[in-house]
Amino acid sequence: MLISASRGYKELPTLTAISLDQINRALSSRLTPWTDLATAATPSTSTARPTRPPSQSPSLPPPFQTSSPHHPGLPPSPRGRYPFILYPSSFIRACPNSNATHRTHHKLVSIHRKTRFNLPRQGLRKMSTLTAITSSTSPLASAFKKQKVAIIGSGNWGSAIARIAGNNALKLSDIFEYEVSMYVYEEDFNGKPLTQVINELHENPKYLPGIKLPENVVAYPSAAKAAEGATLLVFVLPHQFIRSVCTQLKGQINPEAYAISMIKGVEVKDGEISIFADVIEETLGVECAALSGANIANEVAEDKFSETTIGHREGEKGKEAAELFFKLFDTPTFKVGMIEDVAGVSLCGALKNVVAIAAGFTDGLGWGDNAKAAIMRIGLLEMKRFSEEFFKGVKPETFTETSAGVADLITTCFGGRNRKCAEAFVKTGKSFEVLEKELLNGQKLQGSETAREIHEFLKARGKVDDYPLFKAVYSIAYEGIDAHDLTSKL
Ligand SMILES: NC(=O)c1ccc[n+]([C@@H]2O[C@H](COP(=O)([O-])OP(=O)(O)OC[C@H]3O[C@@H](n4cnc5c(N)ncnc54)[C@H](O)[C@@H]3O)[C@@H](O)[C@H]2O)c1
Repeated sequence: MLISASRGYKELPTLTAISLDQINRALSSRLTPWTDLATAATPSTSTARPTRPPSQSPSLPPPFQTSSPHHPGLPPSPRGRYPFILYPSSFIRACPNSNATHRTHHKLVSIHRKTRFNLPRQGLRKMSTLTAITSSTSPLASAFKKQKVAIIGSGNWGSAIARIAGNNALKLSDIFEYEVSMYVYEEDFNGKPLTQVINELHENPKYLPGIKLPENVVAYPSAAKAAEGATLLVFVLPHQFIRSVCTQLKGQINPEAYAISMIKGVEVKDGEISIFADVIEETLGVECAALSGANIANEVAEDKFSETTIGHREGEKGKEAAELFFKLFDTPTFKVGMIEDVAGVSLCGALKNVVAIAAGFTDGLGWGDNAKAAIMRIGLLEMKRFSEEFFKGVKPETFTETSAGVADLITTCFGGRNRKCAEAFVKTGKSFEVLEKELLNGQKLQGSETAREIHEFLKARGKVDDYPLFKAVYSIAYEGIDAHDLTSKL
């Protein structure tokens, strides 16, 4: 939000940023009533001259109203959208009350026309120099409201990211509200509801044991309750649950909210493929970015250094959302980068899990590091080719230069649950379904499921043979082909 001193108020230094606490402090100081400035006002560059209806009391309206009767040219906050009373700056200059509080107030709330708020153009043209006064009782004051964060999900990664968001919300208390709500799919943990355990212990002992969550992270068993009033929604669920949770949230969320998807997967339905940022955007009607990177949850939770990437939409809204999410997540040990490529970031996160299954097969076969490096190289090329072939606007550098691309591929092929289960698949001969239950303690396996979905999609298009590594992973995982055949067609 860009806030500056009114151009008509020369004494004021330009303010490029303003903290909500500053504004609140100023607003909480009681302002003395205005004297009749309609006659006292000096001529200004503004063409809108102060007038007051005869029925009006001699003093100007007290601050904190939703519209100014002195400027009938300005529409009175229709649908409650305009958070300011607008006065020509001549009013402010002529204000006889020069006490410090009053002046500070004006300084703090003077707002340049080039803010994100859609002030009425006609009114602005008429009043070339404006000073805006925030209205604390106005519904429009929402423009200065703090961001309310809701984390939709509470698994291994969901809890790790809730910890970061909670800590940053505490540190940046002028931007974020104190409470960070977290939707927890309710289940029993040692005879108690998991939400209760999390709220009592400030820890998620089922999915992120041994890591303390800040006390402002509050668990809710209902997604709608957790998302109530949220302006920033963080979707961090295994992809199989996204549709059902979005259905619970439909019509329940703030339509002005920004969302971000941390889901590593794709949805394939009726031969069509979608990334989850698009599913969320279409289902809930909110702009949705994506975050992905080389981020093994336990390492991030222990504050071991890692990088991540936010892929955002184009345009001002896309950038604004990305900057807010940057502030919510960036820390000295969790470095956030940004790129205008939601699809590329999302697809990297989904497809690298299929490559990680292949990497796990090589571990199970005892083939060594050279073989794994070859799988990773071929896998990266297939990931990039697939994304460019089926999605518009994907940037090649997302794959080669960001944490979401090559870095996440490397980490997933060396660590992570997909590699681990694929190694066990070769060594034990058990199915992925069984191994997920035996090895992951309730966590969900994404790579085998994504391999199946990608195969279904390519088959519908007659393109299975164009992606030999993806095909080999599917055939070994689901068609009983020997893992030794992994590289035979590459
Ligand atoms: N764990 C990681 O290291 C990591 C890192 C980056 C991204 N991701 C991605 O983040 C997403 C979330 O993964 P995670 O690790 O937080 O989850 P997880 O696999 O650790 O946990 C499973 C979660 O699903 C919930 N769940 C189970 N049944 C459910 C249902 N019917 N409805 C709704 N929720 C249900 C559980 O409560 C739990 O929170 C995934 O897409 C994953 O690929 C994970």
